[in-house]
Amino acid sequence: MSPPKVLSFHLILMLSAFTGAADGYYHSSWAECIYSSPDLSDMVYIDNYIFNKDIVVQFNSTVGEYVGYTELGVKSARAWNSDGNILQQERAEVERFCKHNAQIRQSAITDKTVAPKVKLSSVKLASGGHPAVLMCSAYRFYPHGIKVTWLKDNTPVKSDVTSTEELPNGDWYYQIHSHLEYTPKSGEKISCMVDHAGLKKPLIVDWDPSLPESERNKIAIGASGLVLGVIIAAAGLIYYKKKSAGRILVPT
Ligand SMILES: *[C@@H]1O[C@H](CO)[C@@H](O)[C@H](O)[C@H]1NC(C)=O
Repeated sequence: MSPPKVLSFHLILMLSAFTGAADGYYHSSWAECIYSSPDLSDMVYIDNYIFNKDIVVQFNSTVGEYVGYTELGVKSARAWNSDGNILQQERAEVERFCKHNAQIRQSAITDKTVAPKVKLSSVKLASGGHPAVLMCSAYRFYPHGIKVTWLKDNTPVKSDVTSTEELPNGDWYYQIHSHLEYTPKSGEKISCMVDHAGLKKPLIVDWDPSLPESERNKIAIGASGLVLGVIIAAAGLIYYKKKSAGRILVPT
């Protein structure tokens, strides 16, 4: 054997040793509880045995017994399925493990659901060819997972919509704000539709274009200021009149 050949032989050995160590083997076994109905009636329990990325053997509560997916898995499934104790225990897991835990989570999360409060407001009025901007805000909802949709004459609007993330308040509640850019047309109805786990059906708020609330507020503040000013001026005038009437002028 010439020296270079020995070297290459060793190199290959080392390479395979390294790649072997890097890849390794991975065995995992884990259970899942899958359901979507709040009354847990559609609960399915899955117990997986996985080697590297392949399922070897699996118990699916709908099937009611183990199913093998590799040669070893088929053997294991046959052995476990013929053991009444193992099967009985595994079949009971839907109730003992899945429904039990789901109920605890249900009362910790689902039953604490709080529906959002929804407000529509005007951010910008249309002017000089620029579109108007409306904001739909959903406040104080729990948990996160909300859908905010803009409607034009009851048809969902896809474009010219921007939305914030669902922002955590830090007190378990969330809020979200969605903006719509639009060019007002007379007779057109703009609405904001909000759907959330806390609502029995989607909440729809129609936009009242007659006077945006911010504008109403400005007018209300302006009017209050004017009234207050008039009252103060009148009071000042009366006070001045009374003072000057009671004053006796002393000649120098
Ligand atoms: C469990 O078994 C049922 C019935 O065969 C099947 O419809 C379902 O997809 C299975 N679930 C999983 C996660 O494999």
